[in-house]
Amino acid sequence: MRQPFPPGFLWGCATSAYQIEGSPLADGAGVSNWHRFVRTPGRVAGGDTGDVACDHYRRMKDDVALMRELGLTAYRFSIAWGRVLPEGRGKVNAAGLGFYERLVDELLANGIQPMATLYHWDLPATLDDRGGWTNPDMPDWFADYAQVCFKALDDRVPLWATLNEPWVIADQGYMHGNLAPGHKSAYEAAIVAHRLMQAHASAVQAYRAVGRNKIGLVVNIEPKHVPADATDADRHAAQLADAYMNRQYLDPALLGRYPDELCEVFGEAWPDWPAAEVEALKQPIDFLGLNYYTRAVVRHDAKAWPVPVVPQRQPGGTYTETGWELHPQSLADTLVWMHERYGGLPLYVTENGAAFYDPPTAINGEVNDPLRQHYLRTHIAAVQDAMARGADMRGYFAWSLFDNLEWALGFAKRFGLVHVDFQTQQRTPKASARYYARVIASHGADLDLP
Ligand code: GAL
Repeated sequence: MRQPFPPGFLWGCATSAYQIEGSPLADGAGVSNWHRFVRTPGRVAGGDTGDVACDHYRRMKDDVALMRELGLTAYRFSIAWGRVLPEGRGKVNAAGLGFYERLVDELLANGIQPMATLYHWDLPATLDDRGGWTNPDMPDWFADYAQVCFKALDDRVPLWATLNEPWVIADQGYMHGNLAPGHKSAYEAAIVAHRLMQAHASAVQAYRAVGRNKIGLVVNIEPKHVPADATDADRHAAQLADAYMNRQYLDPALLGRYPDELCEVFGEAWPDWPAAEVEALKQPIDFLGLNYYTRAVVRHDAKAWPVPVVPQRQPGGTYTETGWELHPQSLADTLVWMHERYGGLPLYVTENGAAFYDPPTAINGEVNDPLRQHYLRTHIAAVQDAMARGADMRGYFAWSLFDNLEWALGFAKRFGLVHVDFQTQQRTPKASARYYARVIASHGADLDLP
């Protein structure tokens, strides 16, 4: 038996709107960038779409009952901007907002604390048509949308996150184009990064005027390591990769400056932002959310773009189906790094999980997923380790409650603690979900039990 986690530590699962809800146009919702992206041939594996996904929009009550059955004390979800404001701005769609009001009420009635993310990648198409995140008006539009959500839900939502993973939005959406809107431009990505941070800062400022609870930012961090025989070029390239992925957003949001290395990463594409504009990105926040999946061991490679690194596969390492190395130690180290570098803010692990091959259907009502259970155990232990090393840990959210639409990878990559049969919508808690339920019930004390 381990020391239990402190009382009040939140045990949750995370999801996002487009990945689970389905019914993307129901009740007057506006078309999103993702609705279009999945309809662009070749963009999503298997031609999969979020048209039905986990059908959560229609099964929400049963899904919350399942969360309660698992003993979750918290649930992180995202709000689809286009359900609330079908045109992205202007007229509020009460029916769309109503879905999130019912969800929040249902969670609270079941003793589950909501954490609402305002932006998890589904942008109203009308705003995409105006240049999406490159548009200088986006920060204001985002803050206006955020205000609508605060007004409707802040009396019941104790924890708000502005953006989910700004790095992925800029890098995958505008730099490499694997995700919506599918652009490929360093010039756009550099601007998008700045607009995202301005949007975050504007929403936090708006919250300070009306909010009574807590607001924070959710980032993905992937520590960059070098092999034992690294050259100076390897070490320098790893430092650039670290600046680009791990400090590009946290430094402006919390320290009011961009990492110097970004000039080298972006070259002439990096705009000379006025110092006062950069300083204004720093707005006090109440917590940081970390989405942690893996680390990367990298070597210099001049052909790679925009950062001259390539990842090295580690002999003997265990890899998930998305090719990510299991490295729980890096979760602990990252939390301690965030704690030390960014002023000891309260921290949540807002996503952590793994896609592994699962048996395709339940056998005798069970889906056995021992690797995922191992992943959870070792990573939750890493959270405990980080706490012992001083990090102010407030909660852990497993990614994800359900198997769902893994963006451009479609439904084939299953991250769920709960198996979803996408033909019948049958939900089956996997062995990892049962295990997580036992961990929660014991406040972490039973973490090492089988
Ligand atoms: C994160 C993202 C999630 C989920 C997860 C697994 O980057 O926030 O939506 O897809 O990765 O790949």
